[in-house]
Amino acid sequence: MGINVGGDDRIQDIVEAEHEVYEPPASVVESAHVQKWEEMRAEAEADLEAFWAERAGELEWYEQWDQVLDDGEAPFYKWFVGAKTNLVHNALDRHLKTWRKNKLALIWEGEGGEKRTFSYYALSREVCKFANVLKSMGVKKGDRVTIYMGRIPELVIAMLATAKIGAMHSVVYGGFSTEALAERIEDARSRVLVTADGGWIRGKTVNLKEIANEAVRRSGYVEHVITVKRTEQDVEMVTGRDFWYDDLLGLPVAEQRCETEVMDAEDPLFILYTSGTTGKPKGVLHTHGGYQVYISTTLKYVFDLKDDDRWWCAADPGWITGHSYIVYGPLILGATSFMYEGAPDYPYPNRWWSLIERYGITVFYTAPTAIRGLMRYGDSWPNRHSLSSLRLLGTVGEPINPEAWRWYHKVIGREKCPIMDTWWQTETGGFMITPLPVTPLKPGSATKPFPGIVADVVDEEGNSCDPNEDGYLVIKRPWPGMLRTVYGDPDRYVEQYWSRYADQGWYLTGDSARKDDDGYFWIIGRIDDVLKVSGYRLGTAEVESALVSHAAVAEAAAIGVPDELKGNVIHAFCILRQGVERPSIDKLKSHVRSEMGPIAVPAHIEYVDSLPKTRSGKIMRRVLKAQATGQEVGDISTLAD
Ligand code: WT7
Repeated sequence: MGINVGGDDRIQDIVEAEHEVYEPPASVVESAHVQKWEEMRAEAEADLEAFWAERAGELEWYEQWDQVLDDGEAPFYKWFVGAKTNLVHNALDRHLKTWRKNKLALIWEGEGGEKRTFSYYALSREVCKFANVLKSMGVKKGDRVTIYMGRIPELVIAMLATAKIGAMHSVVYGGFSTEALAERIEDARSRVLVTADGGWIRGKTVNLKEIANEAVRRSGYVEHVITVKRTEQDVEMVTGRDFWYDDLLGLPVAEQRCETEVMDAEDPLFILYTSGTTGKPKGVLHTHGGYQVYISTTLKYVFDLKDDDRWWCAADPGWITGHSYIVYGPLILGATSFMYEGAPDYPYPNRWWSLIERYGITVFYTAPTAIRGLMRYGDSWPNRHSLSSLRLLGTVGEPINPEAWRWYHKVIGREKCPIMDTWWQTETGGFMITPLPVTPLKPGSATKPFPGIVADVVDEEGNSCDPNEDGYLVIKRPWPGMLRTVYGDPDRYVEQYWSRYADQGWYLTGDSARKDDDGYFWIIGRIDDVLKVSGYRLGTAEVESALVSHAAVAEAAAIGVPDELKGNVIHAFCILRQGVERPSIDKLKSHVRSEMGPIAVPAHIEYVDSLPKTRSGKIMRRVLKAQATGQEVGDISTLAD
């Protein structure tokens, strides 16, 4: 059906690994929370509401729900209608009533080797103090707080404090830059920004505060900026607007007690901006009730977390992986989570492996791009370390190629740790297509939908595809962790996700996939203009707008080109304005870096005289991509010239 432009390598991988089955080791099966995964899925599908109500029953609610699922205004679904809750009650408050009060909630190591730990009690105390600070600045239920910093404990504290008082957070990944941050502050209309003076990466500092100051100037909503001292670098502080985090925590208002705000299950918890097909990023909105049920259930069953585990999700809290599985999921389960600030290969390529050994990590979750990067340094780095504490591994963010999967399985997992390849999205809140520890695995397949998730691969008309036929990945029934809307733009929510299969009421994921003869799902890639670069999600539109914001650039087109290490890299084609001096390619790259951030910088930029367009003026990226990858251009009958 011609939807897999550039997906040829992936198809080859699928054909290669389709019949390579890894049975789970007996030790893993014996102790797993869920033994009969196929039965569980059948049960859940037979009565979705009963299945989710039972899961929700494992959490505490201030008041029970009257209705599990309300689909009266679909696709604006509501879950646990009528219930009163606050996710922070389940993540912190309820543990303080048990022995977990003294259990470690968070273990943190800085890039320079500093260590900090927080028991549930200590984390809750810090959260209360900061919550009181936010309140004293006038932040209340429904307000938005933007958070922009590196992987440090204050990021987690700020998120929880915001949620505790019923405000919504919008975390902006610390790798984004000025315009990306300004645009997100503006869309959320945040009056308060929490940031840091800087961050550490590969022994160098990142000037977060400088970027934040410029973004605040551009966006114009922020009244107060709270800055955490991390690098102690000199930064500009504006009197009346700017406060140091530590100074505020020393004030009498920063009391150690703070009531958790009682919320409706459907009240918003956070906005997280993610790239879409066109235009500016969308504010994906998640709520307190359904989200807490979904992420805690998926984490418990997929990674089989138990009280003696040490869980390490090596993502960044600035992305959904971090929201759901560094911060909220593990805390709801009362688990011990590890977080590391810096780069995996700093100062040496064994940094991660040494952390696993030193902290006795039992379950480790990362992205294919990181695995490929570390694989390139060779086996001797991991082989220096005892990784025997590990019992399960995971991956997320993009398809994993069988070669990297096998290396991860053999060299890191020592052939005894099943790999949970979890397919999901910012929009889905949590894992959607994923093995459980007992699932027989195939390298590169996310296997089957989680119990309660009804997924399929369909053609344009909505017919289920035959085995090994490529089609669109859709979700046919609602689930509690689903996004509720696009913040401030409900039409875009309907249009983007629910319009393609409006008659059937299915959710369009934006991915292509196929199922094999055993019903295993194989994700192929995006069908839209969303790129996955090193597992980071970016829109071609954002890269293009960063390029044309340079005074010399009149028009730009960006495409993704397959790359062995990063999955994809960006290639950009620019038309210059008449009569301007041609900027050097490096200048243009550094412009994109300072506007959008390092992840958006094209690997390759080319100046061209024209771009292939349809007669209606739309850029045909497909044509550029075919040229760049040396493939057949395909049907170009709509090309203007
Ligand atoms: C897109 C969503 C951080 C949570 C996931 C990233 C791709 C994600 C997998 C996987 C193949 C995957 C898809 C999806 N993707 N996980 N296991 N196998 N592809 O969330 O940044 O919203 O990106 O990531 O293309 O649509 P995200």
